[in-house]
Amino acid sequence: MTIDQSVLQLLEESVLCWLATSSLQGEPSVSPKEIFKPFKGDSIVIANIASPQSARNINENPRACVSFVNIFTQKGYQITGAASILKRPDQDYQQAKQALEELTLGKFPFKSIFRVSVEQVREIIAPRYRLFPETTEEDQIRSALKTYGVQSELSSSSPCDTERRETNQQTTTWSRNG
Ligand SMILES: Cc1cc2nc3c(=O)[nH]c(=O)nc-3n(C[C@H](O)[C@H](O)[C@H](O)COP(=O)(O)O)c2cc1C
Repeated sequence: MTIDQSVLQLLEESVLCWLATSSLQGEPSVSPKEIFKPFKGDSIVIANIASPQSARNINENPRACVSFVNIFTQKGYQITGAASILKRPDQDYQQAKQALEELTLGKFPFKSIFRVSVEQVREIIAPRYRLFPETTEEDQIRSALKTYGVQSELSSSSPCDTERRETNQQTTTWSRNG
């Protein structure tokens, strides 16, 4: 299915996603991935840099789930679909690699690329929004900044900052000033 605009926006805002897969026997595995992007309007691609178990599981069982949240607004999505593994000779590999290398600047070699086609989308939001409907995104951002201790971290920058991180930092800066 086509990924809608609100999901695309949160994919851009989220620094990490979590990829869940399972073996043929149903043994689950979930791990964080930072290098991911929407792809061709209907799927998410994730760089396989160091994810051997995910790769084994996808080969055995294509069902996968990807979740991501903007840790400041504490809103996100959970996406379920069929995963496949793109390798160098595959038709879409080069295009997916190019998109993901915008995040790594080519610094990390990819063993392959996982592609999860979007079949089901479910919203994830912090319980506070539902329990206390007067909660605004600004309230939640303020609370998350405190929880993560971000304010004291803002002055130091990591040498491995990615484009997406910079985007998030802009969000942070804005929320601090707001
Ligand atoms: C913050 C963070 C970001 C990561 N991003 C990626 C990534 O984009 N791609 C990848 O292959 N591994 C990434 N990793 C490493 C994997 O999560 C890690 O090697 C994990 O053990 C792989 O598990 P798996 O084999 O079950 O997939 C990341 C780890 C962390 C802590």
